[in-house]
Amino acid sequence: MYNRFISLACLAALAAVVGAAPAAADSKNGKKIYDAKCSMCHAKDGKGNAAMAKMFQLPSGALSLVSTEAQALPAGDFTKITQDGKGKMPAFKDKLQDTDFTDISAYVRAMAKTSAKPAESPTAKAYAAKCASCHGKNGKGNAALAKGLQIEPASLDLTAPSTAAKNDAELTAVMLKGSGKMPAYEGKLSAPEIADLIRYTQSLAAPKPEAKPAAAQ
Ligand code: HEC
Ligand code: HEC
Repeated sequence: MYNRFISLACLAALAAVVGAAPAAADSKNGKKIYDAKCSMCHAKDGKGNAAMAKMFQLPSGALSLVSTEAQALPAGDFTKITQDGKGKMPAFKDKLQDTDFTDISAYVRAMAKTSAKPAESPTAKAYAAKCASCHGKNGKGNAALAKGLQIEPASLDLTAPSTAAKNDAELTAVMLKGSGKMPAYEGKLSAPEIADLIRYTQSLAAPKPEAKPAAAQ
């Protein structure tokens, strides 16, 4: 009788613990299901399987679930898309249990947090080290420095239409020979490095391929 009381008490305590956090998602279960059912398309790290995106004829970032755009998706929409599918994305409504969807969503959010700071490419690093002091980290120009150099802030803006209007040869010439207060990089940077840096500055100017249209921001 006494023993039975103990085990009942234990059960009650256990139920209290389990029941105490009904909303807490089980990220471990989320990982198990994600790895088995989602990773072939969305990649193990959530960044999207590039080969799969190509096959679906989607932009390479389209399958990322950890991009800023994908993370802007409200949790309810994440679950709804996972349940009902979307375009080439299969529906999982009948294949998983209700709680699984919350668990996957929690797991993907956790992955997004750890990958929030993507490893910088060598070109991004070179830009940050050699160009950002004048042109700004975002390419829009360092206003304080323009004042110091007594030049128009706009002349440091590499995202301006006036820069976009120039072709690669013209921009390469500025980088090689310098122009005004812009230093010459001939002999300091290789031709491929210059080409990469120009492409990088152009990417700062261009809207991100996976970004929503400006009107939606
Ligand atoms: C066969 C490949 C495939 C599998 C497997 C797959 N997906 Fe997808 N998923 C896609 C494609 C393709 C898209 C893009 C759909 C579109 O926008 O047309 C997508 C889009 C999504 C989106 C919307 C992202 C956004 O930013 O709008 C979510 C959320 C998502 N998938 C979650 C999952 C989850 C969770 C699983 C596993 C349970 C999963 N997917 C399994 C192919 C897949
Ligand atoms: C000391 C400040 C300074 C640094 C460092 C600097 N720039 Fe410049 N850059 C300028 C200025 C000033 C101009 C505008 C020159 C002009 O108007 O004649 C300019 C112009 C340019 C242009 C031409 C823009 C146009 O529309 O004609 C490009 C491209 C460019 N810079 C890229 C770079 C890159 C890439 C780096 C790093 C490797 C870099 N700059 C480093 C000051 C700098």
